[in-house]
Amino acid sequence: MSYDIAADIQRLKKEKNAVILAHYYEDGDIQDIADYVGDSFYLAKMGQQVQQDTILLAGVVFMAESVKILNPTKTVLVPDMEASCSLVKGAPYDQYLAWRRQHPDGIAVTYINSSAEVKSISDVIITSSNAQQIVESIPKDRKILFGPDQHLGRWLMKKLNREFVLWPGACEVHVLFNARKLHELIGQHPDAVVIAHPECDESVLQYASVAGSTSRLLEEVQKNPAKKFIVATETGIFHQMQKLRPDVTLIQAPVLDAGCSCNNCPYMKMNNMEKIKHALETFQPQVGLNEALRLKAKVSLDRMMDITSGKPVSWPAEFTV
Ligand code: 13P
Ligand code: SF4
Repeated sequence: MSYDIAADIQRLKKEKNAVILAHYYEDGDIQDIADYVGDSFYLAKMGQQVQQDTILLAGVVFMAESVKILNPTKTVLVPDMEASCSLVKGAPYDQYLAWRRQHPDGIAVTYINSSAEVKSISDVIITSSNAQQIVESIPKDRKILFGPDQHLGRWLMKKLNREFVLWPGACEVHVLFNARKLHELIGQHPDAVVIAHPECDESVLQYASVAGSTSRLLEEVQKNPAKKFIVATETGIFHQMQKLRPDVTLIQAPVLDAGCSCNNCPYMKMNNMEKIKHALETFQPQVGLNEALRLKAKVSLDRMMDITSGKPVSWPAEFTV
């Protein structure tokens, strides 16, 4: 009889009173053993609400940190502590702080794809599913510093007809989608609907009839009666798309080097079933945060939660750190 690691993980979850949250970019087997699968905002919200003592976050470390910041009494596990993100790596605390200090009158709107340290010097956190609502809640006369993803920032500036000061970060996966090759592919599949994550360059986004968070892209595949989609985001999400719409053809948006598997996020793909089992057995690796840092980072995450649940918020007049 072959070894059933999924059954082992299910047993461990019960024994250890643990819950698994997984991002759409994880491999299909991980998504299938998770209790909740979603985009980064959904995972942060679920992480705040779940009752179990232990939360294993199968995603990248900034997602698990956000859960720990919002729900500190829980034990928060990750399969691999090295599962970072190019946006986190491209926004070191010292440089972000120096940038903020150059614009003390600005409101720092920071993508959830950032370290806890960068969150601690930000005014509000956004994800691609709530960015529009959050920026719209900021008075029009206030300057906005937006980072670390310049492409998401540019997409929002266009959508909201508003100028931001942009941090020059990028997602190493989404920037590889190539506009010229996409144009050619659309010519070969004129019946396909193009959908893209806003971390893509604007040269790619111009071809998308829908740009949005992973959950928005999934919703489009679920609801749009079309039979073919060209998808410009990480391949893990194909698992849920195909589950919801087994009748459609999904085509990966092209990158320049046709032979590479660079549409896979190397950080998300560090996780696997063995590492999840090991984390549940040993309660390692665990996300730990210094309490002073956690409390500072929580201010910007709380603003995101308040705005998205319709509560009024106030904005600091100036940055004083
Ligand atoms: P979502 O919030 O849309 O799930 O995006 C997270 C992410 O890391 C995209 O690369
Ligand atoms: Fe970060 Fe890009 Fe991976 Fe998302 S896909 S976690 S933005 S490197």
